[in-house]
Amino acid sequence: MSEIPITRPHFTGEEGAAVAAAIASGWVSQGPRVKEFEDAFAARVGAAEAVATTSCTTALALALHVCGVGPGDEVIVPSMSFIATANAVWHCGATPVFADIDPHTYNLDARAAERALTARTKAIMPVHQVGLPADMDAFYALGERHGVTIVEDAACAIGALYKGRPIGSLPSLACFSLHPRKVITTGEGGMITVQDPAVAARLRRLRAHGMDTSDLARHTATDVVIEAYPERGFNYRMTDMQAALGLCQLKELDWILERRRALAQRYTEAIEQIPYLQAPYDPPYAQRTWQSYCVRVARGAPIGRTGLMRRLLADGIATRRGVMASHEEVSYAAPDPDAAPSLPHTEAATRETLMLPLFPDLSEEQQDRVIACLATCLLAHAA
Ligand SMILES: Cc1ncc(COP(=O)(O)O)c(C=O)c1O
Repeated sequence: MSEIPITRPHFTGEEGAAVAAAIASGWVSQGPRVKEFEDAFAARVGAAEAVATTSCTTALALALHVCGVGPGDEVIVPSMSFIATANAVWHCGATPVFADIDPHTYNLDARAAERALTARTKAIMPVHQVGLPADMDAFYALGERHGVTIVEDAACAIGALYKGRPIGSLPSLACFSLHPRKVITTGEGGMITVQDPAVAARLRRLRAHGMDTSDLARHTATDVVIEAYPERGFNYRMTDMQAALGLCQLKELDWILERRRALAQRYTEAIEQIPYLQAPYDPPYAQRTWQSYCVRVARGAPIGRTGLMRRLLADGIATRRGVMASHEEVSYAAPDPDAAPSLPHTEAATRETLMLPLFPDLSEEQQDRVIACLATCLLAHAA
């Protein structure tokens, strides 16, 4: 086990009592706390409404489904993303089409997405990779020009700003993850932000088997309610125990974001002094969440990315490879190599990047150990 983990969720100690109160209330599936959490989440990110789900993956699949994505359709996604982005498209019976990234931001490049459009393209799903907003204006312009829907994979982006506007407040459906590796957590969980109340109502029905009334509404009704199922749905319900945890986490969000930002700045200042290492690009149009700190090992460095990860691990420091390239996994590899997409920026970035430990309770002493180890590995070789 590493002495310095890659991440660790931040808890204050109040969460146990909040979850215990949910259990004591008898509401252990979806009930009043989920509603409260949805309202608080929507208020925090400036959305008209928020709809809770079991994960970001199910949120993405549900969002695509309400946008009419189904069998025979194509959805353009970055290959450079956690594989859940592509899997969510597949869950709808549609085909993910991989396009390349911008080599600086590592986010889906709108021009590459445009080149990947076909007559079957139904949607484009930019990812706010590791919490850095994609260039949404370019995607909205593209969507309008070609009549395709935009859905945001905002798994890592709660608290991020795009041109001063919070992710979650933009016109597209945005899907967030509440997995422990993300900025805040409910253990497992997801959230869709939505500006149209009619779409929010449909999402709420669809996540609960397509039922036209919620358990909470039936519980509080003063007359008998015979529910109906106007369309087929799913079971993507968050529990009240998770929502109780989420409500505690939301209170900590500003502190968590500030702490992540301060630690990221310390990393950047140090990494700029270490040869062969490149700090992440921080574009002026966005405020990122620093869900991960992704550093690049320059070509020609005396030690490669994976060698560096091994040296850090030997010193008790956990790292992870940079964001994966989904099109290189067996599950998405083109059966005919000649038909494989050409994604040179993705392929280079996935091989040359690694994630350093970054989480709110990482101490400066621990961070200094990570920096010292990086410097030893690269300066010693450079001398
Ligand atoms: C970009 C991206 N999309 C989707 C997901 C899936 O999130 P979840 O685990 O909540 O389904 C992740 C999780 O790592 C992610 O990083």
